Amino acid sequence: MKTATFEQIRKMVYDRSGICLGDNKLALVRARIAKRMRALKITDYSRYLEYIVSDESGVEIQQMLDAISTNVTSFYREPAHFDFLDQVVTRWVEKGARQLRFWSAASSTGEEPYTMSIELAEIIEDRPVDVKILATDISTKVIRQSLHGCYSVDKIAPVPENLRRKYFVRQGTNGNSDYAVGERLRQMVIFRQFNLSSFPYPIQGPLDMIFCSNVMIYFDRQIRGKMVNEFYRVLRPEGYLIVGHAESITGMAKGFKCIKPSIYLKE
Ligand SMILES: C[S@@+](CC[C@H](N)C(=O)[O-])C[C@H]1O[C@@H](n2cnc3c(N)ncnc32)[C@H](O)[C@@H]1O
Repeated sequence: MKTATFEQIRKMVYDRSGICLGDNKLALVRARIAKRMRALKITDYSRYLEYIVSDESGVEIQQMLDAISTNVTSFYREPAHFDFLDQVVTRWVEKGARQLRFWSAASSTGEEPYTMSIELAEIIEDRPVDVKILATDISTKVIRQSLHGCYSVDKIAPVPENLRRKYFVRQGTNGNSDYAVGERLRQMVIFRQFNLSSFPYPIQGPLDMIFCSNVMIYFDRQIRGKMVNEFYRVLRPEGYLIVGHAESITGMAKGFKCIKPSIYLKE
């Protein structure tokens, strides 16, 4: 791939998603796009770029974003965050909360919002509490996978056995089985495609808690700052913003109080 082609792809990705591809990402971009090019029988990177630009439907740029984005995730990825969710929601429910709203703002293939839903279902049991989790991602591919909601034995491994039995339906034969998300969890989670780098967000709130983990690392400081302002706007006072452990919003979290590493309270 010529440097000029990489520069154009990099600009296109930034303009459409806010994702900053550093100079060291050329090999990664080349490898991820190559698969898509093979499917289209295009052998030259600059031809592929022309193809994207000429596709006025916008389908190909979405395909490219799907290919470029990093979707690594897992059930219970950052256990301390789910312990915190348990602790806070138990308190809210004991105090009589009857409606709770959550947002998993870069939900990837669904493991994060479904983990949230397991924990929430465990707390709420059969109390009349209306709970919804909005789960969003820029990639249409991961949203489709999330809606499908089937996870391999390896992927489901972090979910304790008793919760697996309770909230998933085992499919297929022993050697080759999947776990499908059950109805109780599906009813709680609403999946939507959503671009976190497009402002202002079409969300009114008020939300009780936002998980925005392991995505800010891909954005520059300017976009991260705008995101934090939008999270502040849509959260209710005393609501929480949770980011990844490797991320920090220090210096841009005006109005937020850091109460634990990577957990912020809207004051
Ligand atoms: C590494 S995954 C994080 C998944 C999950 N939050 C976790 O911590 O396990 C990052 C996700 O951010 C999504 N993403 C990247 N840019 C985005 C944007 N501009 N708007 C929304 N989602 C974006 C990617 O598609 C990917 O699924």
